[in-house]
Amino acid sequence: MSDRPRLRAVVDDLPAYVPGASAPVGAAAFKLSSNENPYPPLPSVLAAIHDAAADVNRYPDMFATELTAAIADSLGVEAEQVVAGAGSVAVLAHILEIVAEPGTEVVFPWRSFEAYPIAVTLTGAEQVRVPVGEDGRLDLEAMAAAVTERTRAVLVCTPNNPTGPAVRQAELDTFLAAVPREVLVLVDEAYVEFVRDPEAVDGLATLRAHPNVVLLRTFSKAYGLAGLRLGYAVARPRIAEAIRKATTPFAVSHVAQLAGLASLRAKDELIARVDTIVAERAQMLHGLRAAGLPVLDSEANFVWLPLGEATSRFAADAAAAGVVVRPFAGDGVRISVGEPDATDSLLTFAKLWT
Ligand SMILES: Cc1ncc(COP(=O)(O)O)c(C=O)c1O
Repeated sequence: MSDRPRLRAVVDDLPAYVPGASAPVGAAAFKLSSNENPYPPLPSVLAAIHDAAADVNRYPDMFATELTAAIADSLGVEAEQVVAGAGSVAVLAHILEIVAEPGTEVVFPWRSFEAYPIAVTLTGAEQVRVPVGEDGRLDLEAMAAAVTERTRAVLVCTPNNPTGPAVRQAELDTFLAAVPREVLVLVDEAYVEFVRDPEAVDGLATLRAHPNVVLLRTFSKAYGLAGLRLGYAVARPRIAEAIRKATTPFAVSHVAQLAGLASLRAKDELIARVDTIVAERAQMLHGLRAAGLPVLDSEANFVWLPLGEATSRFAADAAAAGVVVRPFAGDGVRISVGEPDATDSLLTFAKLWT
């Protein structure tokens, strides 16, 4: 008998989530490592945060009623279809908890969002990783072929983090026609506001047409509230109800709820910032290519450089030049789109890097 608490065997296999590195303290550096929004909160959102702070001696509204209704309204769905959580990463975990268990499988693309392997493994289900193509696109045909009678969920990340392309509607339609309806298909749209490909997936239309589809969205990226932890799922009422049951009580703080509401009210201003980031993305892609670097097309607020063995060296050299990027050792570098000064520093560095 051991004299220590017994841990589940899967814990030994869990990869640690690696957050994007921060800029060194005191150094003048741009943090382009976590796909954050480079712009500070709008004054109206900051005022809501300030007001909400006065009530933090009380528990928040457990069901985030007003926020959930406002999100539903903005999407044209019923409030009972929306489930908010402490960041979409938490909602993702709850969705997996209601479908996956030991003896089942969850199919997802790889490389993709690094929380997927952790969240799947913790349910006790098997990970089924389907390689992403060299162009950074999900291979939905191979993902459909990977579905077995043990599959409980498929994760479709569009645009895919960290590679950048968005799934096209035609590809998703073919995929959904091939996948049994008892398999939950989670369409992770964390970066949907940055998509400009006219053929890209329309998540809400897909949700209306397919009862097994669940959408995952967040206020962390386009809405710039990463630090407040606010994300949500949109699903059919039966599935939404189950996710709600699995959700940590009071996980969405009062501050996050009021900031989310204020952000929805300021949607036009925030979406104008998104347009600025999309324009900056084009500058980055153009400049990096002009510097002779390989870089994939992106529909998100980051770009992917498949640098292989040169990945770690590029990241270290960029950091020394004041630009903190996110390396995936041996594979590639993800660089978030920042403000124009960040792009200037990055491109000055990139032109000289060999
Ligand atoms: C694809 C994808 N989904 C979900 C998330 C989680 O975002 P949050 O938990 O901040 O809502 C991220 C964050 O990087 C992401 O890249």
